[in-house]
Amino acid sequence: MNNFDYYNPTKVVFGKDTYERIASEIALHTKGKNVLITYGGGSIKSNGVYDKVMASLKEYNVLEFGGIEPNPQYETCMKAIKLIQENEIDFVLAVGGGSVIDGTKFIAAGATYAGDPWDVLMRKEGCAFTDSLPFGTVLTLPATGSEMNSGAVISRDELKEKRTMGGPQSFPKFSFLDPTVVATLPKRQIANGITDAFMHTLEQYLTYPTENKLQERIAEGILMTLIETAPKVMEDPSNYEHAANLMWCATMALNGTLRAGVAYDWATHMIGHELTALHGIDHARTLAIIAPRLYEVKFENKKEKLVQYGERVWGATDNKAQDAIVKTKLFFESLGIDTNISDYDTNNADTPKIIRQRFEERGWTALGERGDLTPKEAERIVEMAL
Ligand code: NZQ
Ligand code: ZN
Repeated sequence: MNNFDYYNPTKVVFGKDTYERIASEIALHTKGKNVLITYGGGSIKSNGVYDKVMASLKEYNVLEFGGIEPNPQYETCMKAIKLIQENEIDFVLAVGGGSVIDGTKFIAAGATYAGDPWDVLMRKEGCAFTDSLPFGTVLTLPATGSEMNSGAVISRDELKEKRTMGGPQSFPKFSFLDPTVVATLPKRQIANGITDAFMHTLEQYLTYPTENKLQERIAEGILMTLIETAPKVMEDPSNYEHAANLMWCATMALNGTLRAGVAYDWATHMIGHELTALHGIDHARTLAIIAPRLYEVKFENKKEKLVQYGERVWGATDNKAQDAIVKTKLFFESLGIDTNISDYDTNNADTPKIIRQRFEERGWTALGERGDLTPKEAERIVEMAL
């Protein structure tokens, strides 16, 4: 088992009818009364979440900042930072999916940063802020795990860039996870959520065998729960138990638990972010496009773990490693997810080359769990996915 630090200060309040506790949770982190709520394109206003959150905040002076886009944009976040600086905001409450929460992490940290916070994301290493305003979240889309981790991904469309940030100050102080929100999600977003959670687990599992038996079994437990729950929650998102299982899987898949003491990959995500930046493909869909090809290209590296995954998770009996790859792709497709780039954008001939060049320029020459995935291999993976 590898050495590890395990740190997660986010309090999770899980279940229905809990939002009246938001105000008391905020009060644990600030004596101030000025709260900024951040949200996206307005789904929270049509599905009742906004009204319930506002009812809890009646003792506070609430300012609103809406319009954080899917794949939150730097320019938009900078407007929120200005609002915070002009209004002496004490606490920020993100109400939405991964994009709103990620945007809020950038906003809360950026508001305390002297200089242009984009510079932090452009560093070659250590893209972490050192300070942040306190913030909490009300999650409306189970997918990214952003509600219980310190990472965020921010886009700049004019540069066709999508960059990550993190740091210990960027954990939410608390997150409210009410599975009833799943009932209002479009099927496309539920499919995305299942896929993202599945891939977060695979990124930290599908590497090479370890003696970290608990970690292996927790990952397999999440994968098997998602496989069992996926068709049920797609069929009936208003079923509380199915929604609750999806929501807790998604949080557990990326709250630091799975990474403790094991090797991790993350190359699918790094390549996938480029597909979002270049083609605007939904984050989860980029992963479903890239992962099966990456497993083919890095087959030798991963074959022992692929066998274990095929056997334990999919019940494969013959050709276990290959079968595991095929079953994974079919699983994503069963959710209605297309797994070729050309399904989304046919103007893609240069994409493999652009991604290789970007990785070379950034010095990303050694990705993956063994640090041996080269820009040339990234190019090949993308070519196979066209
Ligand atoms: O903007 P609104 O109106 O809220 O609509 C959103 C948006 O259009 C809608 N939605 C959310 N909750 C809803 C709802 N519609 C109806 N009912 C509800 N209850 O869903 C759409 C997509 O939302 P978004 O937040 O973009 O989706 P998701 O949660 O999948 O987040 C994706 C973003 O998270 C990043 C991705 O790169 C992407 O930018 N990620 C963040 C990670 C992290 N912080 O740890 C890790 C991930 O790997 C990922 O990279
Ligand atoms: Zn992801």
